[in-house]
Amino acid sequence: MDRFGEYVGALFAPEDAVLLALRDDADRAGLPPISISPDTGRLLQVLIRATGARRILEVGTLGGYSAIWMARALPADGRLVTIEHDAGHAAFAREHIAAAGLSHVVDVQEGQALQLLPAFDGEEFDLVFLDADKEPLPTYLEWALRLVRPGGAIVADNALWGGRVLDERERDDATLGVREFNRRLATDPRLTSIIVPTHDGVAIGIVGQRPAASD
Ligand code: SAH
Ligand code: DHB
Ligand code: MG
Repeated sequence: MDRFGEYVGALFAPEDAVLLALRDDADRAGLPPISISPDTGRLLQVLIRATGARRILEVGTLGGYSAIWMARALPADGRLVTIEHDAGHAAFAREHIAAAGLSHVVDVQEGQALQLLPAFDGEEFDLVFLDADKEPLPTYLEWALRLVRPGGAIVADNALWGGRVLDERERDDATLGVREFNRRLATDPRLTSIIVPTHDGVAIGIVGQRPAASD
């Protein structure tokens, strides 16, 4: 992490014993070390509070680290559904979400995102957090636009994809997915959007007619 990120993280996003233990256990269990950074966790909490979110949909649970950050910012009647296709990751996440005392808030649904998402059609979410595979990101964005209410937020991790979005010679499916997602997020008139270049880049789009250009 760069020195600005370290300063911001240490000041605004210290991890408590639950989050530290989760990361230790995840390393021991051989989960990939690709959870969101603590400062991204706090950024998600800021967005949850700013949008008054009560219902959140996450795509990509891994060990439940980001789900715990988000669930903690929800009001008492808030709910978070999180989708994970790897059975081992889902079991690990359920166990650690229980240890965090958040089983009544977080619902881990096991399955492929593109198979589970249609079941939510007609429901309304205040925030969708996209943090799974990158190749289908444009399709995940279409789902998010259907599911998020006006004034709600669509958020995606890894929007800078380790810098690969910058290099037009990088044409693998994941990089193309992130690049196309970013292009649509930037240009869709239903969104007011930005990438915050923290950690690996956090893309944020607020749903609703964007402000008019000045020219
Ligand atoms: N949000 C997590 C990190 C997610 S890592 C955190 O910050 O703690 C990405 C996760 O998405 C992995 O656990 C992977 O198994 C899962 N995943 C990848 N493709 C998926 C798909 N198509 N459907 C559901 N889950 C998927
Ligand atoms: C990878 C990293 C992520 O944060 C993620 O959500 C998915 C994949 C990766 O480095 O492969
Ligand atoms: Mg990620």
